[in-house]
Amino acid sequence: MVPMTLQQIADAVGGVLYDAPDPEATVDRPAVIDSRLAEPGSLFVALPGEHTDGHLFAGPAVAAGAIAVLAARPVGVPAVVVPDVLTALTELARTVAARLTGPGAAGVQVVALTGSAGKTSTKDLLAQLLGALDSTVATARSFNNEIGLPLTVLSAEAGTRYLVLEMGASRAGHIAHLTGIVPPRVGLVTNVGTAHLGEFGGSKEAIAAAKSELVAALPSDGLAVLNADDPYVMSMAARTTAPVLTFGRAAGEVRAEQIELDQAGRPSFTLTYRGARARVRLGMYGEHHVANATAAAAVALGLGAQLAQVAELLCAARQLTSGRMEVSERPDGVTVVNDAFNANPDSMAVALRAVAAMAGGRRRVVAVLGEMRELGAASMSEHAELGRRVAASGVARLIAVGGGEAALTHGEAVAGGVASTLVADREAALELLLGELRRGDLVLLKGSHTAGLEEAARRLTEPVTVGS
Ligand SMILES: Nc1ncnc2c1ncn2[C@@H]1O[C@H](COP(=O)(O)OP(=O)(O)OP(=O)(O)O)[C@@H](O)[C@H]1O
Ligand SMILES: [Mg+2]
Repeated sequence: MVPMTLQQIADAVGGVLYDAPDPEATVDRPAVIDSRLAEPGSLFVALPGEHTDGHLFAGPAVAAGAIAVLAARPVGVPAVVVPDVLTALTELARTVAARLTGPGAAGVQVVALTGSAGKTSTKDLLAQLLGALDSTVATARSFNNEIGLPLTVLSAEAGTRYLVLEMGASRAGHIAHLTGIVPPRVGLVTNVGTAHLGEFGGSKEAIAAAKSELVAALPSDGLAVLNADDPYVMSMAARTTAPVLTFGRAAGEVRAEQIELDQAGRPSFTLTYRGARARVRLGMYGEHHVANATAAAAVALGLGAQLAQVAELLCAARQLTSGRMEVSERPDGVTVVNDAFNANPDSMAVALRAVAAMAGGRRRVVAVLGEMRELGAASMSEHAELGRRVAASGVARLIAVGGGEAALTHGEAVAGGVASTLVADREAALELLLGELRRGDLVLLKGSHTAGLEEAARRLTEPVTVGS
């Protein structure tokens, strides 16, 4: 974090110092909301969690080296006490962002990205591209909301050159709130799909309008990077005064051409821009990464990087965040594809296409699919459609996990000739799976976060101890 004394923090957030003998004590490490991540120099932010209250961990956080706690009440250790901790965290991030980007500052370039799918994958690629050019801080994992974004800003340092921020939106106004904390100069929109469809009243136009808050926030000397293959994204050009740079496969200034998949399902393509071309061979699985890599490349090129260098860095880039098309080879010849972090109809389709390519028609594909959440009125039809998609994609065996919606997927898959079993939960799915996996199988695990299939993937891939 950009160094700040406790008094400066208190002033920035309108807080009062309690139990703080030294108001000049300086916070110079990131803010954390998990006391186990507290380290010497950090600031512990006491937020209410799902199961507990951060205030209960103020003591351990300070014992681990946190300089103070941002809290809603005195906690017996040095604290900046405020009426509302999240508001104060937001305010602190706003202050730090202004310092980093404001007049006379080192000139951090803030790059924000949003979209229905591929945000984290693209963000991770972009962090690797820009990180090779200069000091870069990017959103960790998928910390893309009103808590994660301020924490990311607070992890930037005085020498940070690029700040890459993933921005999520589950309703109108979310992104405007985030860009209000730290105004981006470069904004990328990956695509508009079906994620969070329910919360947007089933309307893709409403999703597009929410995502377009990002480009609307760009300054006229900024840069909007838009997906030329997605008409909903392209329509956002009308909402920004910033110059537009487009990317895509069928169209776009930064283009992916001659796309191929190798036997393992890793894509390669020719990246072109302004007459220059370079072949890119990705180390990541699934054709969808072509779009993500092209989007990340467009941002880097827009910021002045050279095409040959971008292509080289893309070849070296790796999957940074777990639970997304994470491929593990088990010693018994079973391949596990863990895409269990989350799911919506688009990403299900993408994952099914990817495993079909990886299997190459030679290996048995087993899909363990949990239900997709947040689809609203479209939920029933989308789950039935998923069953038809499973059948069409060549999956031999389906284990559908869940209740009524999983039953719809199961029913359509059976009708399409897939050997399918409906099970109630993850444990039942695991038991069934472990009993029938055989050498050469390719297993895909995917569902909404609440289905908890990440844990199933972890247990499938953990080293097996062979009994006595
Ligand atoms: N460009 C893309 N187009 C369609 N689907 C994609 C694309 N990129 C990734 N996906 C699918 O979406 C899944 C999630 O990818 P990723 O985590 O990058 O997206 P996200 O937008 O960050 O998701 P979240 O909203 O959960 O943070 C991937 O595992 C893959 O199945
Ligand atoms: Mg994400």
